[in-house]
Formats: sequence, C-alpha cells, structure tokens
Amino acid sequence: MFERELRKSGAGYVIALVEGPVGTGKTTLVRLFENKFDGRSLEDGRTLRAIYINCGVARRFYAAVLEAVQQLIPQLPRRGLSIDELLGILVDQLKERNYHAVLLFDDFDYLQEVTEEKRRPTGYLSSLLHSLLRLSEHAGEPYLSLAFTAKDFTSLLRLLAGSIISTLTAARRFRLKPYTADELCDILRDRAEQGFFPGTWSDEIIRLVADIGEQEGGDARCAISILYYAAQIAESKGATEILPDHIREAAGSVLPSDLENAIYSMTRHEILVLLSIARLFDLKPDAAYITMGELEREYQATCEEFDERPRAHTQLWHIVRRLSALHVIHAVVSSHGQRGRTTNIRLALHKPSAARLREVLERELAEEMDNYA
Ligand SMILES: Nc1ncnc2c1ncn2[C@@H]1O[C@H](COP(=O)(O)OP(=O)(O)OP(=O)(O)O)[C@@H](O)[C@H]1O
Ligand SMILES: [Mg+2]
Repeated sequence: MFERELRKSGAGYVIALVEGPVGTGKTTLVRLFENKFDGRSLEDGRTLRAIYINCGVARRFYAAVLEAVQQLIPQLPRRGLSIDELLGILVDQLKERNYHAVLLFDDFDYLQEVTEEKRRPTGYLSSLLHSLLRLSEHAGEPYLSLAFTAKDFTSLLRLLAGSIISTLTAARRFRLKPYTADELCDILRDRAEQGFFPGTWSDEIIRLVADIGEQEGGDARCAISILYYAAQIAESKGATEILPDHIREAAGSVLPSDLENAIYSMTRHEILVLLSIARLFDLKPDAAYITMGELEREYQATCEEFDERPRAHTQLWHIVRRLSALHVIHAVVSSHGQRGRTTNIRLALHKPSAARLREVLERELAEEMDNYA
C-alpha cells in the first residue's frame, strides 16, 4: 500500500490504522515495516524515513511527537517548544532534507491523553491529532504519512471530534486476527529451532503450547512465554527435554500479555502502588476489595522499604485512576461506607494470583534498582 501510494510522485501520503488483540503481531508488523523501508529511495528522489515510536513509553502525545522529531533531527533542542512549533520544525526539516517520513505510533491507546479522554469533554486529543493529521493532508506537502496501532480503534474513534473521525475513518484499517494454533506452531517451532538444542523439544510440545496459546486468545507473546518458562522449568529440574508437565506448569504462571504491557508502561510509583495492592490481597485472601485508606498505609510502608518518598494523597489518587485506565484494577466509589464515600479497589484480572503478581512486581522493582546502580 505504501509503495503504491508513495510512488504517485509527490502527491501521496498514507494514514493507516493497525488494530488487533494483544500478541497478534502489531508491533512486529510496524517494526518490520521500519526495517524494510527506512532509508529507501522513492522514485521522485525523496528518501523514506520510517520512525518507530512506542507510545507506552512516551506516555504523552507531546513526548511521542518529540521522540519522533528527535529521531529525525538529533540536534533538536529538548525543551520549551509548543506542539505547533515542534510540528513546524518537523515539516521544515522534512522539506529541507527531502524526506517523506512515516511516523509509526505503536500502542497509541497507551497514551495518557487517550486513557484520560473519557473525562475530558474538551476534545483535547482531537485537537492534538488534528495538528498532526493536518500536516499530511496539507496540499502540496506530502511529507508525512502516519500509522497507528491500538487494540481497537472503534472505541478510540468514538472519543474523537467529527473532522478527525472522518479523516481516520477514511484511513486504511488493518485488523490483525488472533493467531490460530497452526500459525502459532510455525512461530513457536521457529523460536525453538533458534533457541533450544536439538533433542530437547518435540513437535508434540510445540503443538501443546500452540493449543494453549489459541485458547488464550491467539496471543503469540503468551505462547512464546509459556515455551520459554517451560524450558526454564525443565532446566531447573535437571530434565534433558521439555515435557508436557513443564508446559502445564509454565502455562499456570505466565502473566496475561495485557498485564505485562501495562507493567512495562508504568512509572516506578505506579508499580509501587500496584505492588501494595497485590500485597494487601495476598495478606487477606478472603477480601474481595480493599479501601483507599488501607492502600495508602500499605503504599507508605512499601515506599519506605524501597527507599522512595511516598507521593501525596492527591497524587496517589491520580495513580489509582491511571491503573484503572490501564484496566489493571477497578476502583469503585461507594456511597454506603460508614464514613460517607469510600473508594473500593479490586484487581481487574482473574490471573495471576495476588501472590504471583506480588512476586513479579517485586522482581521488577529490584531489577530497576540494578539498572540505576
Ligand atoms: N508473525 C509472527 N512471526 C514471528 N513472531 C511473531 C509473529 N507475530 C508475533 N510474533 C511474536 O510474538 C510476540 C508478540 O508480538 P507483538 O509484540 O508484535 O504483538 P502486539 O500485537 O504488538 O501485542 P501488544 O498488543 O501486546 O502490543 C513477539 O515476541 C513477536 O516477536
Ligand atoms: Mg505491541
């Protein structure tokens, strides 16, 4: 599609939406695009520059655009530019360097503006997107193409204002389907051949993991993780090959991909808050909910343990809202509390257990410490 559009000497640009459930290859697809197309010459002499931006890491729209511009122009000043100034510099530079840039915004639904848009009737996200889309639409200035990935654009489009919706609805939309067991077999066999010694795995094992992966929503990441953990389990037990029982054990402890992604995009204090929640539920196996007050006390203790200064009450609130927006927890305000309104919190996912979540987050925080050291 890109080749066809961009060959239309000078005039073409592309806006593409790539959507699909977790682990269906969205990132793999845009990364492949980046590898194949970045630096390629177009027929009219322009150079195609494919720029990958991880929105989960950037967190905010401005930071994502800044990241894109910095990849194109490394000497750009770091601070003090408005979004329109930033986009102005982007267009000037693209013209000057004779580039056609394709900005690949991966995990667009992880941007804070998207997760918060529901509470902002002002159409803030729409206006940001409008500035960006206008650049590609600008007649005679086809210097910019855009691709976005998200789990689902239908709900995202609903948040946007009219003109943006019509632009994005006209965009090419690609739906990646969950992988079938057969497709997962191909992916897993490839990984096994690359990663394991011959004789330590069998086709039967691959099939078993692929079947579980299909049941888990056709999620390739989940399937690969199960195979990886199974190999570790086999090794730790001194087995010379991976057995079905290792697979079953591994399948029970792999984190759902949504949760893994969410953790990846969290700040240290968001992880500290989630760890505090996991600890409270681990300590109270019969509790369905915890209260904000309980959380606040536990969070202060957790911060002390990890040598962090606890954030103030209002900021703790923001963190709880962010964790809810990431669908990791549910926070419900109840009016039946004895002392008026209280906020009750529960974990949003059935898997993993609070104990396992706790273990994962503790390891995550310890690893982060190592990285700082
Ligand atoms: N077609 C494929 N061939 C080989 N490996 C694949 C393929 N699709 C996905 N994978 C692997 O599966 C894992 C998950 O894929 P990927 O990260 O692209 O999914 P995603 O759709 O971006 O998921 P998310 O919604 O979590 O961002 C990665 O390790 C990736 O390398
Ligand atoms: Mg991805």
